[in-house]
Amino acid sequence: MKNIAVLSGDGVSNEILSSAISVLDKVSSVYGLNFNYNWAPIGGRAYEETGVPLPQATVEACLKSDAVLLGAVGDWKYDTLAPELRPERALLGIRKKLNLFANLRPVKVFDELISSSPLREEIAKNTDIMIVRELTGDVYFGEPKGITTKQTLDGREIKVGFNNMIYDEDEIRRIAHVAFQSAQKRRKKVCCVDKANVLDVSRLFREITKEVQKEYQDVELSFMYVDNCAMQLVLNPSQFDVILTGNIFGDILSDEASTICGSLGMLPSASMSDGKTPYMYEPIHGSAPDIAGKNIVNPIATILSVAMMMNYSFNHVLAHDAIFRAVKNVLKEGYRTKDIYKNENEILCSTEKITELIVDNIN
Ligand code: IPM
Ligand code: MG
Repeated sequence: MKNIAVLSGDGVSNEILSSAISVLDKVSSVYGLNFNYNWAPIGGRAYEETGVPLPQATVEACLKSDAVLLGAVGDWKYDTLAPELRPERALLGIRKKLNLFANLRPVKVFDELISSSPLREEIAKNTDIMIVRELTGDVYFGEPKGITTKQTLDGREIKVGFNNMIYDEDEIRRIAHVAFQSAQKRRKKVCCVDKANVLDVSRLFREITKEVQKEYQDVELSFMYVDNCAMQLVLNPSQFDVILTGNIFGDILSDEASTICGSLGMLPSASMSDGKTPYMYEPIHGSAPDIAGKNIVNPIATILSVAMMMNYSFNHVLAHDAIFRAVKNVLKEGYRTKDIYKNENEILCSTEKITELIVDNIN
């Protein structure tokens, strides 16, 4: 039996989770796997139920499971809460508690969705990037941080806010290994994205990445400044194989890259540790409270996250491929949720309908 902690958050969270669980149940019956789900609240939902966004019981449910599936957290109604009570804080907290330093975000455009891409077909096609984003360091966690006050030269007291962009060499080394190993299974190219023309922390990131590359002679390493990378992603995305980058640059570039695939609702992710704690799977999109409860959210990002779970947590490539194939078939047949629906040749589906079709296609 495999124990999966299912973290129920805000907005569309439960709709996408129940889609993903239908897929898991089907995979389980086809391949004779036996999944057991332990639901636990996180984010705004946990705050409502327990007064904190990341209850200790939720952390424990994760720690004793084999894998973690997360919906999404956040809602504008929590914008006025103290920073430590906000839903996003729970997401950062669980990533840190489970030591999930490596976030893998595959950006692969389905041929069937090329016309949904905002980029011209000849630019979007063949996009197949693995973004390896460091997830437990950088300005997200750096100390010192805060909002304080200072005296100006003319004697006024003004507010000042600050965060520290910081990486030590051990943190850089372990994420660089993940990027090179991932490239070895792909087209053997790593592009390290940073701001080394300005930032000291980026200069160290480059130095250590070069050092680690010596252990991966078969992988080609290049460097690119993040502003240029943002531009190259829309000019010529197929030049990239693996992008290795820090937490904040990875956050921004992965949202940008996701649109190449037609919708933010298509991109899955896996967050991995050193193997001593379970890995976590989540769509890269947020909780979308504006469309919650309407049965219109695209569940594919979460379904593909479950496919990644089969691969990385359960080493079950067949199950991974079956889920992926089912999604592709359903898209090929013209079924679309609202976010990827383009014209009347396609069939507009609800969340539940497209889930049912994907489930039926797994065999
Ligand atoms: C993501 C999200 C999170 C992040 C937010 C919700 C804290 O944008 O997973 O990309 O910034 O990491
Ligand atoms: Mg993000």
